[in-house]
Amino acid sequence: MQVHLAEHLPKNERIRLGSYYTPERLVKQVHEFIMPYLENKKIKSIVFDSAGGCGAFIFGLENYDYRIADCDLEACKFLKQHFNQHNIFHANSLKGVNRDKYLIPSFAFLIMVGNPPYNDTTSEFKNGKKGQNICDDDLYDRDMGISFLKSYYKLNADVVCVLHPLSYLIKETNFKRLRDFKDNYKLIKGAIFSSALFHGTGTGKFPILVSLYEKCLDGMTFDYIKNFRFNILDSPKTFVLSDFRTTDGYINKYPPRKNDIQKSPIGLYYYSFRDFNSLKKNTSFMTKEHPNGIVVTLDNFYKYSYLYALKNLFNPDDAWLYGNLSPLINIEDVQQNKKLYVLYTIKTHKVFREMEGLKKIADYYKVKLNGTDDVSKIEKAIKDGLNKLIKYETKGMKGVESLQPVEC
Ligand SMILES: C[S@@+](CC[C@H](N)C(=O)[O-])C[C@H]1O[C@@H](n2cnc3c(N)ncnc32)[C@H](O)[C@@H]1O
Repeated sequence: MQVHLAEHLPKNERIRLGSYYTPERLVKQVHEFIMPYLENKKIKSIVFDSAGGCGAFIFGLENYDYRIADCDLEACKFLKQHFNQHNIFHANSLKGVNRDKYLIPSFAFLIMVGNPPYNDTTSEFKNGKKGQNICDDDLYDRDMGISFLKSYYKLNADVVCVLHPLSYLIKETNFKRLRDFKDNYKLIKGAIFSSALFHGTGTGKFPILVSLYEKCLDGMTFDYIKNFRFNILDSPKTFVLSDFRTTDGYINKYPPRKNDIQKSPIGLYYYSFRDFNSLKKNTSFMTKEHPNGIVVTLDNFYKYSYLYALKNLFNPDDAWLYGNLSPLINIEDVQQNKKLYVLYTIKTHKVFREMEGLKKIADYYKVKLNGTDDVSKIEKAIKDGLNKLIKYETKGMKGVESLQPVEC
């Protein structure tokens, strides 16, 4: 059994337990983040990985006081051969959570590390392989990773330095689900990387965070996260959520609710999307009513034309980074270039080849149906605009002070 591969488990078990062991580069980043606390001689610190797998995060830290727990018996057998067996616990770390269970004194400075499982219904689990989250009532969440974060608060950890999806923080609905954790901990440092760094985690790439939190009476607000400057691992770039404008509040992304108009007056629908990844993956315009169809009208047609252009023409290398944000947009650009997006859509999407209401749309937006516009020129003009959607600042530029630990 290797420390960085869960090869002893069949695929379904690997999925159920979220056993994707962590590559060394990421373990190293966690070690770097926690070293200042570990080396503080004034406090008795204990490092604990409560989803320890084969101990990737504790290798190299054996000279410090540590604990490792895991519910996988085989992994625990391996751990007992390579670490002090009194420090290994074969347990469900989300059940009966308290320090005594792991012989951690109440006065010890507790540093949680690791890469707890993240089991989201959007992942491979939706194929019916999803495991149950058996945990203390107050820790329950449909995503085990969020339950793990809550368990660190229950253990009264002083520092938490773990890997978790960036979406736990940057999607406000997820952020709220962190409850006591967000109210009692503050993000101090964060380095983002692509899920592609893990083997066998599926095709949809998403951003994961190496996070460092300190216990803090004030906790953190969503505003704090919005303005937090994240590093991008092994890159000079940084990422600040508030730098990105998304379609939220400007373009509706949901099918009509019970009391909304169900039928499009121009016989046109757009397939609903949750974020940029699903916009890319799903189909776009449809002429038939559909349970996932958003109603398109003459008035909002240009907005869905924009989304259609974004879906086809915006293919940056680091799309994984904002894949689970709502689609990016520059509203002024879209307002000023309605005709461009409309023309691109009606000239390239097959539903407009013989659509009845097409003339109405063309008249409304004052575009010529039989004009001699060159599609490649239209595409180029749109691409030039879309490429300006991404703006990064590199390290060392303004705002980077937020990477310094804060006094709590
Ligand atoms: C993503 S792996 C991480 C393993 C190791 N820390 C690493 O990074 O290489 C997640 C681990 O959590 C364990 N696990 C899942 N649910 C658990 C639970 N409720 N209690 C304890 N361990 C759990 C799995 O068995 C797996 O070893």
